[in-house]
Amino acid sequence: MIDLTKNLAAVNRRTKASVIRELLKITNKPDIISFAGGLPDPEAFPTEAVIEITAKVLRKNARAALQYGETEGCPQLKEVLVKNLREEEGISVRPENILITTASQQALDLVAKTFIDPSDPVIVELPSYIGALQVFKSYGALMVGVRGDENGINTDEVERKLIALKNEEEHYKFIYLVPDFQNPNGVTLSAGRREKIAALAREYDVVVVEDSPYRQIRFSGKASPMIYKLDTSSNVISLFTFSKTFAPGFRLGYIVAHEALIRKMVILKQTLDLCTSPFSQLIAAEFVNGGYYREHIKKVIGIYRAKRNTMLSALERHMPDGVTWTEPEGGLFLWVCLPDYMNADELFAGAVRDQKVAYVIGSAFHCDGSGQNTMRLNFSYSTHEQIEEGIKRLAQMVKNNLRRGARADSKGHNQACGRNASR
Ligand SMILES: Cc1ncc(COP(=O)(O)O)c(C=O)c1O
Repeated sequence: MIDLTKNLAAVNRRTKASVIRELLKITNKPDIISFAGGLPDPEAFPTEAVIEITAKVLRKNARAALQYGETEGCPQLKEVLVKNLREEEGISVRPENILITTASQQALDLVAKTFIDPSDPVIVELPSYIGALQVFKSYGALMVGVRGDENGINTDEVERKLIALKNEEEHYKFIYLVPDFQNPNGVTLSAGRREKIAALAREYDVVVVEDSPYRQIRFSGKASPMIYKLDTSSNVISLFTFSKTFAPGFRLGYIVAHEALIRKMVILKQTLDLCTSPFSQLIAAEFVNGGYYREHIKKVIGIYRAKRNTMLSALERHMPDGVTWTEPEGGLFLWVCLPDYMNADELFAGAVRDQKVAYVIGSAFHCDGSGQNTMRLNFSYSTHEQIEEGIKRLAQMVKNNLRRGARADSKGHNQACGRNASR
């Protein structure tokens, strides 16, 4: 038998399969109600608008749409984004500050490629987006997790970590944050902590990676400024995507950063795919510029708000005492904490087999392997009926595993939880 793996590079050993991508293979069966993926509702896709715009783009500009494009991105889309960032976020940038990417997963890879050598330390949230952890690990990063509460990551703890490493004459390569309706826990970073992160970026000269795919999907409350807007150090890099507000099939996102960093990332992107599809970019430019985008986001917000409410109401009615969950003001996910003694990793196989319901194990989002009593639930993809039935089944699984006589804390709203939570 030939050993096909003997010549593989170290990056292959470091890169582990994504738990979610693997789970999706099991949970995609038709009899299973899956809260596992992070998929948008296909009913929310702007199909008619895409048909209309595609014809228009091809009639008007087929030569550019079907040709190779600049690695930096199509100027038409970048112009639209410059205008949008100014109008929606009060962020003033030039086209040179933007790099169009093949969605934000590629942006994460470019950021990691730009900064991480094996054993370089980075700060991530506990819990944090699994796809980012997978990328950082593949580059050999040493991930240091910091917990948070209902206001997001504990910024005092972040500062303590920065000081501790500085005392050893070392430094973190970056701090990675998902400040808006975080994936996985749905929590939003408070205005005060955003100010503090911007101050840390300046004071400790540390890069902050602000990954914000859900920011536009707000159901209630008022948005706090992006960290990019608060920054005065040029150390903040913001990642955006069209996946949740338009369609993930377009594989379209963008990085906003200081032009010197953008230039470095452009060169690295040349080795990945030469350029992001100009066809997708020109359609997206027309989608935003032609007035479709704002209307579409309103529609998406309405659909997801109703689904979040259905899930919250089902949790309230079906879950037993001792189970808590977050109530996100936007986004696609909420976070459930089971009693401390329960292990969502061990319960997963039984949930799929016996109750025909799936979730993502919370430990997969913890760089230190903690969080075994937690799970992430997605509310955007399932129908209202599936949400009601799926939560009933999940609650049954929890009830079947309750320990007799164990202390049951009151159930309900809890903005951040997890084993060893330092709050
Ligand atoms: C926080 C975060 N970053 C990045 C991504 C990657 O998204 P995409 O590559 O579709 O833009 C996701 C996807 O769910 C996410 O939740």
